Amino acid sequence: MIIAPSMLVADFARLGEDAAALEAAGADWLHWDVMDGHFVPNLTHGALPMAACRECCGLVFNAHLMISEPLRYLDDFIEGGADVIAAHIEAEDDAREFLQAVRDAGRRPALAINPDTPADEVRGLLPMIELITVMGVHPGFAGQEFIEDTVGKVAEIRRLIEAEAGREVHIQVDGGVGTDNIRRLLDAGADVIVSGSFVLQHPEGYATAISELRALE
Ligand code: DX5
Ligand code: ZN
Repeated sequence: MIIAPSMLVADFARLGEDAAALEAAGADWLHWDVMDGHFVPNLTHGALPMAACRECCGLVFNAHLMISEPLRYLDDFIEGGADVIAAHIEAEDDAREFLQAVRDAGRRPALAINPDTPADEVRGLLPMIELITVMGVHPGFAGQEFIEDTVGKVAEIRRLIEAEAGREVHIQVDGGVGTDNIRRLLDAGADVIVSGSFVLQHPEGYATAISELRALE
C-alpha cells in the first residue's frame, strides 16, 4: 500500500519542514492538491510550493490537478518535479492528449474521476494510465465526509483494469480516507491512499497516523 499525505492540510508557513517530517514519518508519496477556483470552488496553488519543496524531500510527488485546463499548466508541474500527474477526466482539456503529454515528458500519467462520474468513463483510456484517482469526496476541500459508494466504484474499476488494461494500473482513493474505511478500500482493490486530515491532523502526529493506517494493510 502506498500512503500519500495531502499537502493541502500541511502548514503552509513551514511547507518544506512538513514535507521532510512526512518523509521521516514513513509516507511514500506527497499529494499536492492544485485547485483553480473554477473547476472546483476553492483556490489553492500552482506548481510553486511543490517546486519549492522538491529539494527537501525525496518522496514521489503526486500532483492532483483540479483545474479546467491541465494542459495549459502541465509544463510548470513537469519543471517543478512532479512524478505522478493527474488531471480530471471532467476537465475541459482532452484526457488522451493530457495523458500522452505526461508520458512524452517521461512522467507517470494519471486520471482522476469525481464521485458522480461513472467508472465506465475511463475504459478506453486504461492503456494510457498508470494510476486512477477515485475521489472519495467532491473535490475542493479536505475534511469532508467519505462517500460510501466509493468502495463499490473501486471494485468496479479494479475489475475493468483486470479485464481490459492488460497491465498494472494503480487505484488511488482520495478524500475522506481513515482507519474506519481503509480496509474496505484495500479489499476492493485500491493500493494508493491519499490522506489529508487523518494524517496531518492526527493528535499523536504523522508517524502514529501512518503506522495506524499501515497496521490495517
Ligand atoms: C479534495 C482533495 C483531497 C483531500 C484529502 O479535493 O483532492 O486530497 O484534500 O483530504 P482528506 O483526507 O481530509 O479528505
Ligand atoms: Zn487530492
